[in-house]
Amino acid sequence: MDVAGGGAEALKRKAAERAAEWIRDGMTLGLGTGSTVRHLLDVIAERRAAGEWAGIVGVPTSVDTERRARSLGIPLATLAERPRIDLTIDGADEVDPGLRLIKGLGGALLREKIVAAASRQLVIVADDSKVVARLGTKAPLPVEVDPFGEPVQPDFLRGLGCEPVLRTGADGAPYVTDGGNHILDCRFASGIADAEMLERSLALRPGIVESGLFLGMATAAVIAGAGGVRVMERGGEATS
Ligand code: A5P
Repeated sequence: MDVAGGGAEALKRKAAERAAEWIRDGMTLGLGTGSTVRHLLDVIAERRAAGEWAGIVGVPTSVDTERRARSLGIPLATLAERPRIDLTIDGADEVDPGLRLIKGLGGALLREKIVAAASRQLVIVADDSKVVARLGTKAPLPVEVDPFGEPVQPDFLRGLGCEPVLRTGADGAPYVTDGGNHILDCRFASGIADAEMLERSLALRPGIVESGLFLGMATAAVIAGAGGVRVMERGGEATS
């Protein structure tokens, strides 16, 4: 594995291995979505094959993660069965110095946010390309909308300072989330000036189901770069 060369997959694996140190046997684990979390699922499966973590149970945040976890033999439960989650490990599209996040480029933001809100701890795994000084400078903000109301949302969103684009699949048809909704990817020319105010405006708008802003949710972020793995925590940062 080309960690020294900084291969993106190798960095994601490193972040997943370090984040796995938060896991204890018997935990109910929220399983995030995305390419970095796929490495985490591999790590969990390897540790279970080695006889560890026989008592962990995962709550998946997407159909994709559910399928992968199942194929790796990781025990799963629904939120109805496990409404309290000890620890969720998930990826992110942007992480700022205050551990505020943009998530949802993989389309799983709604279930990810529900699971994160039900979790005692949320640990983010990412490579260092995801770290930004201000949210919205690299990634668009995904906004999940009810399909019926989707035509009336772009004007509202432009009024909040962004340019929304309806996410489509390879066939040109609107992308449909696991919850049956559409996504408007919102670009902010100079990033998001006030993420908390934006979050409140989006939450109050009928027909907007959820946004990819995760504010005050992450307890730590494990960031892998060519120089090593560092852990960002609220109020400070340690390198490991
Ligand atoms: C899924 O909807 C997203 O929130 C992912 O967690 C995010 O896009 C990170 O994915 P990668 O690990 O693939 O970059």
